This record gives sequence, C-alpha cells and structure tokens, in this order.
Amino acid sequence: MSKPTIGLTGLAVMGQNLARNIARNGFAIAVHNRTVETTHKFIAEHGHEGAFVGCDDLRSFVEAIEKPRTIMMMVKAGKPVDDVIEGLKPYLAKGDLLIDGGNSFFKDTARRAAQLESEGFLYIGTGVSGGEEGALNGPAIMPGGKREAYERVAPILTKMAAQVDGTPCCAYIGEGAAGHYVKMVHNGIEYADMQLIAEAYDLLKSAVGLSNEQIGETFAQWNEGELGSYLIEITAQIFRTRDPETGGYLVDAVLDRAGQKGTGKWTSDSALELGVPVTAITEAVFARCLSAMKAQRVAASKVLMGPSSSFGGSQKDWIGAVRDALYASKVVAYAQGFDLMRVADAEYGWALKPGEISTIWRGGCIIRAVFLNRIKEAYDADSSLSNLLLAPFFRDVIGRTQANWRRVVSAAIQSGVPVPAFSAALAYYDGYRRERLPANLLQAQRDLFGAHTYERVDKPGVYHSQWG
Ligand code: 6PG
Repeated sequence: MSKPTIGLTGLAVMGQNLARNIARNGFAIAVHNRTVETTHKFIAEHGHEGAFVGCDDLRSFVEAIEKPRTIMMMVKAGKPVDDVIEGLKPYLAKGDLLIDGGNSFFKDTARRAAQLESEGFLYIGTGVSGGEEGALNGPAIMPGGKREAYERVAPILTKMAAQVDGTPCCAYIGEGAAGHYVKMVHNGIEYADMQLIAEAYDLLKSAVGLSNEQIGETFAQWNEGELGSYLIEITAQIFRTRDPETGGYLVDAVLDRAGQKGTGKWTSDSALELGVPVTAITEAVFARCLSAMKAQRVAASKVLMGPSSSFGGSQKDWIGAVRDALYASKVVAYAQGFDLMRVADAEYGWALKPGEISTIWRGGCIIRAVFLNRIKEAYDADSSLSNLLLAPFFRDVIGRTQANWRRVVSAAIQSGVPVPAFSAALAYYDGYRRERLPANLLQAQRDLFGAHTYERVDKPGVYHSQWG
C-alpha cells in the first residue's frame, strides 16, 4: 500500500464516516483518535473497507502521511481544535495542510488560518453538512482558505461529496473563514426551515385538528411538490414512527424542549453585528430558547389565558393554506440568509458566489431542497441580485401564496397558536416592499430627545429642529 497523503484525527461519528467515505473512494488514509481504543475498534470494524493506517499517537500519525501532508481534524468546535493544532504542530513540515471540518466559529477559523499561514502551513476551514449519513455517503462540503490549499485537496473533496446531476456538492468558497461562515448561514437557514415546519405541524395539529397519521401523509404529499426537501421528507418519516415502548406515536413521547449547539445563534449574532435583518432565522433561535423554558411554560399554562386554538372550516382548505404559508416563509428565510452572506462578503471581502453556494446546497446537506435549483437559476440570471425576493420566480411564488400566508398568520394569531417564524417572515416581506416606513417618526423622536439629527426627503443635508 502506498503511503497515504491524507490523515484524519477525531474518530467520533462524523470523523469515522468521513474517513470511511475517503477510503471507499479509493484514497489511502491515516486515522487517529485521542482515545487509542477508538482507533483500534474503528480499524477492527471498518479496516476492510479501504486502505487505512491506524495510528496510536500524533507523532506516528503525522509520520504515516506522505509530505506535503493533508490532515483533517474532526473534533469539537472551540478549544479542542486549538489543542489538536498545538499537538500536531511539532511534527508538521512547512507546506502541510490542516483542515478543520467541524462547525467552528468563523472568527476562530480566521484567527487560526492567519496564524498557521504566517508559520508556513496551509489551513482550510470547511463546512461539512449532511449528518452521519451524509458524511458516509456524500456530504455537502464548503471549504474556505487559500485557493492553492483547496486545489491540493479538491480531488478528494469533490469525489467524496454528494453529486447532483453530475456536479459535486463541493466548490471553493473563498479565503480564510469563508467556508465556515457559509456553513454557519446554512445552519441558520436550517434552524428557520425546521422551525417553519414545526409551526406548520402545530397549526395542522392544534388548529386544523389533523391526526399524526394525516400530518405524516400531508408532509409526504408536500414532499412530492415544490416543497420537496430533506427536512420535509424526514418529517413525514417521523410521523410514521411508533414508540416501541408504548405503541403510540414516538413524536408524542419526545419532550418539547429543543437543544442547540450555537451555529443558529452565531448567525443571528453576525447578522446583528452587520445590521442585517434575518428575522425568521432569529425567531427560530428564540423559539428554541422559549421551548427550553419548559418548567415556566408548564406553570404559565395554568395561569395565562388565551383563545380556543381551533380554526374551524374545511381541513382540506387549511392544509393548502398552511402549505402556502410555509412555502412563502421559507422563501423569506432563504432570502434573509443569502442577504446576510452578501453583506458579510462586502465586509470581509471573500468574493462569495451565491449561485455556486446554492449549487453546493442542492445535495448532501440538511437544507437540500428542490427549490435550491430555482435559487441557483436566480443567481445565474443575475449574479448581483440584491435580494432573492426580487427574482421573478420568487416574486411570483409569494404573489400567489401570500393571500393564504396572511390568512394563516391572522388565523394563528386569532387562535393563539404561536407562529413566530411565519409571522416574522411576513413582517419582513411587508417591511421590505414598503417604500415608506414609519422610521421618519423614529428619527424625529431621536432628534427631539437627543439632538441626533435627521435627513429630509426633499433636500440633502443633516437637520436638527426644535420640536413642538
Ligand atoms: C449539518 C448540521 C449539523 C449540526 C446539527 C445540530 O449541516 O449537518 O447543521 O452541522 O451540527 O444540525 O445543530 P444544533 O444542535 O445546533 O441543532
């Protein structure tokens, strides 16, 4: 066996599956894990799948790889990444390439890339999406760093990535932290997508009165059309799953308290820092926070009043209306995510290509969806599109869904069913399409109480007035 040119350290589930993916694609690979037993177990179970070299310590791991080396780190974001880098460094040679394939915070990636590049190494921070299954059979890969670093590893990355219509779901994203930034926004959109689906579920269940079976069938049908996506597909699957312990639906046995590891919040943090209204994404983050206040909610449910949650009327009609509301809100969530990338790109100078990013997201990743093809077409037609909502296809989607969207949000509010992401998306749409917003009054208030000055609509300049 020839000496591997790539190694992977960090054999948790994602690391194991990526290593197997690389090996199954015909590349020899050295593998290492901090706990030696994990490496031994991995080799015993999967050694026959390809050309693996199991290594017990970092030194033998690095030495097992042909120079110039490529080393992929699949460890927890934060300090563990810095620790692994420090652990590897003494054995590395100039020109070696380190790849961080975890969900690292993009500013950490920028710092690490700058540091390592100044020391003569190459560094790639890459988004890898698709969960365990994607890691094994083809994830979406979003690599950022120096182009020469990407070129070196592109043959492996593009081969192990998911393929859609013969195109790999992997392309060079940009310098420094670009890859991790794009993955972060992917996750922000993922949060919004999931929350929107959860709101549709709540409406179908609590307000329209569908059974779990009917909800599952509804999602399965939606998956056949314009809403076709991985998240809708797995949602249908969830509603088909029984609890082996009780025989009831497993989804009903799951505690309604959502976890989060931080990437959604980082998206909102970055949006606040850059002044970009990603309201549907941020409401999705807050919805998880509100869900986590379970004890308070249980207590409040016994004290606070609200209306009856039933919509009344034809179930079939409401199902169609909820579908339209979901579709329109989803378009807004993606528009907000792409807008955030546009502004971040102007700030950080990565030269992001939104059309290429939507191409990568068509397969392998958690937010893969039929309509990403439409996003790609929108950016192919106009690469400097300022907002996805302005693309003719999406303008028309909202044109034909908005009556139902408004009806669903109004009915949800009347019925006391919380739809924070649906309604935030709608408010954004209505705010974005308004030539004049009431911000003139905000400016007047600011000028009155703090002499903050204002601009006028009829002539240039900055003004301050004595009000009242
Ligand atoms: C992916 C996912 C993945 C993420 C999980 C959990 O693209 O494969 O985004 O990277 O870790 O979805 O994220 P939360 O724990 O924050 O929900």
